[in-house]
Amino acid sequence: MTTDVDRAQHWAETYTRRGDTQVSWYSAEPSPALALIDSAAGLDPELPAVDVGAGASRLVDALLARGFTDVTALDVSDDGLAHSRARLGPAARRVRWTVVDVLDWVPDRRFGLWHDRAVFHFLTDAADRARYRDLLEIALAPGALVVVGTFAHDGPEQCSGLPTARYGPEELAAALGPGLRVVAERREEHVTPTGAVQPFTWLALRR
Ligand SMILES: C[S@@+](CC[C@H](N)C(=O)[O-])C[C@H]1O[C@@H](n2cnc3c(N)ncnc32)[C@H](O)[C@@H]1O
Repeated sequence: MTTDVDRAQHWAETYTRRGDTQVSWYSAEPSPALALIDSAAGLDPELPAVDVGAGASRLVDALLARGFTDVTALDVSDDGLAHSRARLGPAARRVRWTVVDVLDWVPDRRFGLWHDRAVFHFLTDAADRARYRDLLEIALAPGALVVVGTFAHDGPEQCSGLPTARYGPEELAAALGPGLRVVAERREEHVTPTGAVQPFTWLALRR
């Protein structure tokens, strides 16, 4: 995967081939993330929220339902986002749909909530992880909540034909940088539409 176009094309083809509910990461309800978000004290729904690599995830629906007023769904490919826009109908107008590689993104605001399920683990180059950490520095408001889910150590070594980095909680916290403090962690055994089990490590961190 060498260029942004390659990346966008790869993910677009995956959504075209399998639709939104047959991709391995499909989840009818983003339960681990919502449990971490709902248990966070003092999270202000008027502060901007971003779902990085949102795809067709139902997290944006849940954030709107919880009263978040400034929600960005970001993805390198519009194909997953298009499923969410169709599902949301008129409510889709309440979301900022941003098609960009997160590594090239120049955020125009500071976020009170940053969510990433299954994007960070594709960053297998140290330079890409460093860029992601720089982004967190730039894009997070003071006190922001960061909720990240990656494959756990016993998770798959690949997803959609791409290699993944796998993390335990301590390694994930270290990879996300010293500016964040872990406030909660969870393990999830995600079951794919074909019945395979994919263990995830989840962290909630505060800036
Ligand atoms: C495994 S899927 C997870 C989708 C969603 N987070 C969910 O939980 O349903 C990874 C998503 O991240 C997007 N993606 C992958 N690399 C990306 C990047 N560098 N920048 C932005 N989006 C990316 C893909 O297009 C895809 O929608």
